[in-house]
Amino acid sequence: MNVMRMAVGPGRLPAGAVTNSRRAPDAAFKSPTYASTGTPATTATVPPAQFDIGGGKLLPIPSDVAPLFTPYSLSEGRFQLSNRIVYAPLTRMRAVGTIPQPSAAMYYSQRAVPGGLIISEATNISAEGIGYMSTPGLYLPEQLEAWKPVVQAVKDRGAIFFCQLWHCGRASHPDLQPGGADPISSSTRPVTSPEYTVYTPSGPKPYTTPRAATKEDIRRLVGEYAQAAKNAVEVAGFDGVEVHGANGYLIDQFIKDSVNDRTDEYGGTIENRCRFALEVVEAVIAAVGADRVGIRITPFTTFLDALDSTPYATHVYLMEKLNNYGLSYVHMVEPRIKGNVELDQSPHSLEPFRRVYKGTFITAGGFKPDTGAAAVASGQGDLVAYGRTYLANPDFHKRLLLHAPLNQYDRDTFYSSGMEGYIDYPTLEELQK
Ligand SMILES: Cc1cc2nc3c(=O)[nH]c(=O)nc-3n(C[C@H](O)[C@H](O)[C@H](O)COP(=O)(O)O)c2cc1C
Repeated sequence: MNVMRMAVGPGRLPAGAVTNSRRAPDAAFKSPTYASTGTPATTATVPPAQFDIGGGKLLPIPSDVAPLFTPYSLSEGRFQLSNRIVYAPLTRMRAVGTIPQPSAAMYYSQRAVPGGLIISEATNISAEGIGYMSTPGLYLPEQLEAWKPVVQAVKDRGAIFFCQLWHCGRASHPDLQPGGADPISSSTRPVTSPEYTVYTPSGPKPYTTPRAATKEDIRRLVGEYAQAAKNAVEVAGFDGVEVHGANGYLIDQFIKDSVNDRTDEYGGTIENRCRFALEVVEAVIAAVGADRVGIRITPFTTFLDALDSTPYATHVYLMEKLNNYGLSYVHMVEPRIKGNVELDQSPHSLEPFRRVYKGTFITAGGFKPDTGAAAVASGQGDLVAYGRTYLANPDFHKRLLLHAPLNQYDRDTFYSSGMEGYIDYPTLEELQK
């Protein structure tokens, strides 16, 4: 069996197999003390006694998970969330070519509850953005047509649906690029760690040397993010978009100084390395409005060889800048996560970013029902995104409310083709039959 290196991480490595780098926090941010900004004033303070899991079915809310079942007013009230659980963006590679399939409507709606927030799998903003086969796009009319019933199915269940905007940058291969071109990045530095290979139509291959974006490319790329956002919201019907600034993909390739060696205004200083991310955010806001835009950031991931020498300083700067835009949210992944695997432990913390960022903060990565509830209660995050456990439990909310055991996720079917491990994880009801 091949070891796949997929959209965010090594698909087949057992959790705990990879150890994190042990760099000390940047000097300026040593030993951060936790100081939550607290939840915004718009948040309901009295937790409801019952939760609507859909179909008019109300379940009592046990006190241990109650923080996860308190409503939340997102984007200054544009989106009224019934709870704090978010479905994390999860690449599933079930598209045919770049066209999402009807099974995606089933997959997402199975996991939708009234007032829940679902973030879609990473979705290519352009043909050049593709780094993985069988991942959907947002740039062709036929892709948008195919997204419409998927989005509608989620909305019919009363959930809120954001689409994650993706450009893989150097995490691609000429075999996946239009005209066999070299993939584009901030620099010509390739992904070199042997643990990463790229899947092409003729099998796994090592990553190749990318081409460094010219300033003209950068202007075009920014425009492509904005157009994809418009397509997502105005044509496909998504409620909003999440800019994928995480996991070693294009935006992260500009932010992180292990990748970005530019000497122009897009490289060098922290301010310069964050410029591309902020230009994308501004363009996407101009396209669909700030209250429909979130961004995902991974300060500490080493995935796809994207590391930063001063992760605290870099990302605190980014948070300070993002404070100016009135975004729907900032979404960060806990340092214990490298792509889609959990590290043994990490000396790092998202706390400094949470403290600096004034708006809605989503935290993700390795949360269990109790730790997610504690994260909301303590103010570690306003919302908690769950990936693998929610993927494996279409009735995730119900199980938490009933203290029911959770299905185990099956790593072998994360990225396989076919419906197994996609739409056939059993609900409690199905298990009881
Ligand atoms: C199968 C799979 C696919 C993923 N795809 C994406 C993706 O498309 N975009 C993204 O930002 N993160 C992606 N991730 C990372 C998850 O969103 C999440 O950060 C990670 O799984 C840790 O959260 P968890 O411990 O709750 O699973 C993926 C993870 C998995 C397991």
